[in-house]
Amino acid sequence: MNDLAPVTSIPQLEADPFDLANILDPYDFHEQLRETGAVVYVEKYDTYAVGRHAEVRSVLSDWETFTSTAGAGLSDIRKPGGWREPGPLVEADPPLHTSRRGVVSKIISPKIIKSWQRTYAAGAADLVARLCDQQDVDGARDIAEAFVIENFPASLGLEPHRENMVIVGNFNFNALGPKNALFEQSARQLESISEWFNAVQGREGITPGSFSEQVYDAEDAGELEEGVARGLVRTVLRGGMDTTISGIASTIRIMSERPEFWAKLRQDRSKLKLIFDEVIRLETPIQSWYRTTTREVTLGDFRLEADKKIQVFAGSANRDPRRWERPDEFDITRSAAGHLAFGQGIHLCIGQLIARMEAESVLNALLDRIERIEPAGVPTYRPLNTMRTLQTLPLRLIPA
Ligand code: HEM
Repeated sequence: MNDLAPVTSIPQLEADPFDLANILDPYDFHEQLRETGAVVYVEKYDTYAVGRHAEVRSVLSDWETFTSTAGAGLSDIRKPGGWREPGPLVEADPPLHTSRRGVVSKIISPKIIKSWQRTYAAGAADLVARLCDQQDVDGARDIAEAFVIENFPASLGLEPHRENMVIVGNFNFNALGPKNALFEQSARQLESISEWFNAVQGREGITPGSFSEQVYDAEDAGELEEGVARGLVRTVLRGGMDTTISGIASTIRIMSERPEFWAKLRQDRSKLKLIFDEVIRLETPIQSWYRTTTREVTLGDFRLEADKKIQVFAGSANRDPRRWERPDEFDITRSAAGHLAFGQGIHLCIGQLIARMEAESVLNALLDRIERIEPAGVPTYRPLNTMRTLQTLPLRLIPA
């Protein structure tokens, strides 16, 4: 970023990023965002926004200028009115971020993740076997959501609770946006389960030896500051649920729409490992989140003020025609490397190996048993401020 670049007035974005129509079908909105400018000003929320790949990447790569400590959402959590406890990882900068991330990375090392593989594969096989008798299924609820909630919390050593975890997930991604009707509705739902929510926050009931217990042990050993373990366990659980459900549901949707691709994949699974990243490039689960400027800074031709929120649209960057050829097409022959669905820079998703492994487990189990996945109705998306996820995905599974 060149601090000597000229001052040019920042173009104003006419569209509202949180308009329901833009949330449910964001792609025309993304184009408008990218074409309005490399950086835009959103008057309604008094924020900046970036939707082109280069600028999204630049912002996420520079934590000193674009801090996470003011919160990953629209409101500044350091200020009166917006104040809340920051997430111990996602909403921290170095040096705190570095030491906490080090502890989590050591516990969920690639070796540990690999050791989970067999459990995930068995969970997926079991789920698909149950669904084979059913034929008509909802790919979002019966496959993606069921698989992740039945398996992921358990691998962290936590007790799953399906309905409540969905409510918490919806709240998290609505809370990153404005206090609109979606937020209010989620807040009311969260309130209705507050007893459960407060009870599951603690150390009691977690599986001995599990990831979660090891995080608490790290706190006991002084590797983490006192009181941080609980928030870290919650962060990892939250970070890994709805995101992965979204990615797996989109994967199944795309497979159902590409029967010829599915047929080929059943003969030769060598491309299987490439599918998930291309899907989340195309249908990015966390569409946008925020950073905050720590100083006056020049981005592209524009001078940005200090202490302002900037909304980074990974979903738009992942379809930026400046970066991708035929960006709106699912194309397994392209390299999706460089997509920003897992973020970029120091906060790059810590669970990406887990997410890929979960998706591969589901795909493998379906490939083993299902000859064709046929669309059986029009899929719908869930209205959430910052997350793109299928609400319903009616399918017919044709067993082999
Ligand atoms: C398709 C699935 C997933 C997607 C799209 C995704 C997306 C992301 C993104 C965009 C970030 C960066 C946020 C930022 O820059 O502020 C992130 C960070 C994070 N993710 Fe994921 N994630 C996924 C799966 C997972 C899983 C399975 C876990 C469980 C271990 C996880 C845990 C985390 C954590 C703890 C962070 C914070 C890292 C840090 O701040 O250093 N995520 N994820």
